[in-house]
Amino acid sequence: MNQSIKVWAPGTVANMVCGFDVLGFALADPADEIEMELLQERRIEIAPDPVYQLPTDPDKNVAGAALQALLDAIPDEQVGFRLRITKHIKPGSGIGSSAASSAGAVVAANHLLQQRFSPDELVQFAMHGEKLASGVKHADNIAPCIHGGITLIRSIFPLDVVRLPAPDLHVSLVHPQIEVRTADARAILKQHVLLKDAIKQWGNIAGLVAGIVQNDHALIGRSLHDHLIEPVRSILIPGYEELKQRCLAAGALGGGISGSGPSVFMLSASAAIAEAVAHEMRSVFSRIGIEHAVYVTHISPAGVRTSI
Ligand code: HSE
Repeated sequence: MNQSIKVWAPGTVANMVCGFDVLGFALADPADEIEMELLQERRIEIAPDPVYQLPTDPDKNVAGAALQALLDAIPDEQVGFRLRITKHIKPGSGIGSSAASSAGAVVAANHLLQQRFSPDELVQFAMHGEKLASGVKHADNIAPCIHGGITLIRSIFPLDVVRLPAPDLHVSLVHPQIEVRTADARAILKQHVLLKDAIKQWGNIAGLVAGIVQNDHALIGRSLHDHLIEPVRSILIPGYEELKQRCLAAGALGGGISGSGPSVFMLSASAAIAEAVAHEMRSVFSRIGIEHAVYVTHISPAGVRTSI
């Protein structure tokens, strides 16, 4: 049996604009590194994080909460885990930082336990980390982080994850260095929607899924509109409207807020367009005077992996 392992857990873009809590995809870059050792006693030991000072108490750490859920499923076994997470995905960025820690931890543990659990069980365990981070269980970062590609969460109670084909699309993503806590970004949402808005929203979700399955870039672009969440959350991101319009003018198929923000992503059909879009992203935030990090990457067909 392997006694130690290292995995890379990718960043993810949840919601995919119109699919709040039900759609998400994995990014090729950035990814967190998780090193884990198997212990012969029921204990979870988390190394201090020198950069973000994340909690080392397993009850307060998202990876700890996910691993505890996994241990609860095997109450009679004398096993535990010692882990170190090197964060490349900044917490509070909207690129699935907490999901990468939780999903990466349970996938690493599953390797050490000789693949005891199914991917659906791992998603269930990792959602305990999301609950700790945002107050609510949601799987639209966890599922693509574990499976890679694009995933549809048809339901979480009971869990029903549908893997969609990953079209060969390029991603430009900007992370303005302001923090938006997922719990806060959820708290401001309206709890009721108008039927006319819901109709537009589910038309777009269905159109997006059809566009992904048919690899129809124009249909994907036409469907990347959000009538429910973006109008509320975009006020948290300075320059959002200008940014979006300039990215679309540069040739992006479409895009919007990544997860609960503040990152913003755009999908493009070619690497050259994705670079042009990234240029607009830098230009808008430089002019506003907000520090930012930009990634030009693609949808990753792979989820948590054991090699780069
Ligand atoms: N679907 C979640 C939200 C993702 O938008 O709140 C959070 O990363």
